[in-house]
Amino acid sequence: MSNINVGIIMNGVTGRMGTNQHLIRSIVAIRKQGGVTLPNGDVIMPNPILVGRNENKLRSLAEEHGINRWSTDLDTCLSNSEDIIYFDSQTTVRRAKDIRKAIKAGKHIYCEKPTATSVEESLELARLAYEAGVKNGVVQDKLFLPGIMKLKRLVDSGFFGEILSVRMEFGYWVFEGDWQPGQRPSWNYRKEDGGGIIVDMFAHWRYVLDNLFGNVQSVSCLGATHIPKRWDELGEPYTCTADDAAYATFELEGGIIVQANSSWTVRVNRDDLLTIQVDGTEGSAVAGLRDCKVQHRVNTPKPVWNPDIENPFDFMDQWEEVPTNDVLDNGFKVQWELFLKHIVNDESFPWDLLEGAKGTQLSDLGLKSWEERRWIDIPELTIGGASHGEKVKVTKS
Ligand SMILES: NC(=O)c1ccc[n+]([C@@H]2O[C@H](COP(=O)([O-])OP(=O)(O)OC[C@H]3O[C@@H](n4cnc5c(N)ncnc54)[C@H](O)[C@@H]3O)[C@@H](O)[C@H]2O)c1
Repeated sequence: MSNINVGIIMNGVTGRMGTNQHLIRSIVAIRKQGGVTLPNGDVIMPNPILVGRNENKLRSLAEEHGINRWSTDLDTCLSNSEDIIYFDSQTTVRRAKDIRKAIKAGKHIYCEKPTATSVEESLELARLAYEAGVKNGVVQDKLFLPGIMKLKRLVDSGFFGEILSVRMEFGYWVFEGDWQPGQRPSWNYRKEDGGGIIVDMFAHWRYVLDNLFGNVQSVSCLGATHIPKRWDELGEPYTCTADDAAYATFELEGGIIVQANSSWTVRVNRDDLLTIQVDGTEGSAVAGLRDCKVQHRVNTPKPVWNPDIENPFDFMDQWEEVPTNDVLDNGFKVQWELFLKHIVNDESFPWDLLEGAKGTQLSDLGLKSWEERRWIDIPELTIGGASHGEKVKVTKS
């Protein structure tokens, strides 16, 4: 039994996702639990170096979490052969440039979604990684949410019979930043800085739908910038140039119809910040982030439309909880553990940069659908195509 030290360059780690999900809840948590154990008893121990612009922030973050390496010089970090993974959770517009550098330096790549702000750039990253022979992965955290794992279990069990439709409601009110600070970074509301709910959330919807129900085949999307002015982290007003809500319909293979509302301008009156309702011939389910409830065909009540009487049903009471049955850990951490095993032990890790590019493809085509006010089919995406779905054979150099 031996300890395998894996050096990881973590860039963008002072941000919201970098600090909370990737550093504290994933890498630090993995270190605290004693690493990731392989079937032969060997243990992978992640050894991060924190990279960013602000030395003071990096130092205090590192000290707070028992990490002894930090740097403001990415190029020097990339030249250290002991750090074999480059991880990126910077703002989306900054990601592609540094991933290109990291691939050139021979690093394996793991990064946040969206991998870039256009499908061309996302595909280019997938192709570069493939040609360089480096392993690569993209965060697809929603697949590891307990509620969605329960939903997947229902799909796999055949519970739904034929799945007819899926309704996704995502969102909450993001404060404008004047009389209460906004709870998301201000760049999210500026297109020129990589913002917009379509770019952000369609990257998630693509892998959730593809993995649970069937590949997304076409999209119709109407976006909106409902709130035209917000206040940034310094209290300065700015004009919102990016969409803050999107009302979309997707068609999946097999004819499943999905309606997906994504909004930072909605007040929550549902069980969770994301709810996914699936209706099938044999039963229905509603999943939230952690929970999932079902109603089977045989338990389906028979409401009759009659507004002249008091509603005799408590509709919310007519559903049954799906039990957890497993210990479900933080989704970001679970995916990190799988990625580390992929790097060290060659275990399967299907969520690569090409899968990430599919997310960007869906957001690109969603934006196009909105702009042109029409349905758009989603072509197959393969490595090497510079445009949506163009098939080009890639030979490994
Ligand atoms: N998987 C998810 O559920 C999820 C959720 C939210 C955000 N994200 C993605 O994670 C990424 C980061 O989002 P966030 O909310 O943490 O943003 P954030 O603004 O909190 O953090 C961004 C990071 O990028 C760095 N950065 C910004 N400008 C820089 C510059 N000019 N030079 C160097 N570094 C710079 C910041 O210092 C910070 O470390 C985005 O791509 C976003 O789409 C993913």
